[in-house]
Amino acid sequence: MATLNVNGKSRAHDAEPDTPLLWVLREQLGLTGTKYGCGVAQCGSCTVHIDGAPVRSCVMPCSAVQPSQKVVTIEGLSVKGDHPLQKAWVALDVPQCGYCQSGMIMAAAALMKEKRNKLTAADVDAAISNICRCGTYNRVRAGILQAVGVQSKDIQVTHLNADQGAAA
Ligand code: FES
Ligand code: FES
Repeated sequence: MATLNVNGKSRAHDAEPDTPLLWVLREQLGLTGTKYGCGVAQCGSCTVHIDGAPVRSCVMPCSAVQPSQKVVTIEGLSVKGDHPLQKAWVALDVPQCGYCQSGMIMAAAALMKEKRNKLTAADVDAAISNICRCGTYNRVRAGILQAVGVQSKDIQVTHLNADQGAAA
């Protein structure tokens, strides 16, 4: 048995050491909010936090995560689903199918923590490389900026990672 600290609790699992963290979270711990998209660290749908940093869990062997490191999934981002990003997501109706959105929110939450209230549209464009097949990029950007309180004129920016959206 190995242990991981997930969403503030020590959780035991018996996965093989090279099993990606994603599958331990989903299949052993029942945390299915973290999604499988590409499996090769490209799409970001599997993003979780490890000690506050965004990590693509599909390529992270579970044995590489120490029991003392804090893993946070979308289920642990806030107690009642009331993180500023989650509120903004609801207010702006950001998701379409929703599949990529937990990864988007986790990537955005880490960025918000890093930049705090200095976050700009350019920061979002540079940092959020997650892929959305539904093309919600503009609303994702708007949601992030709304969550950090950027004025509405800055929210009306287009083409967040539009090239990735076209390729996805
Ligand atoms: S499933 Fe991990 S980056 Fe796509
Ligand atoms: S909302 Fe459908 S893949 Fe992003």
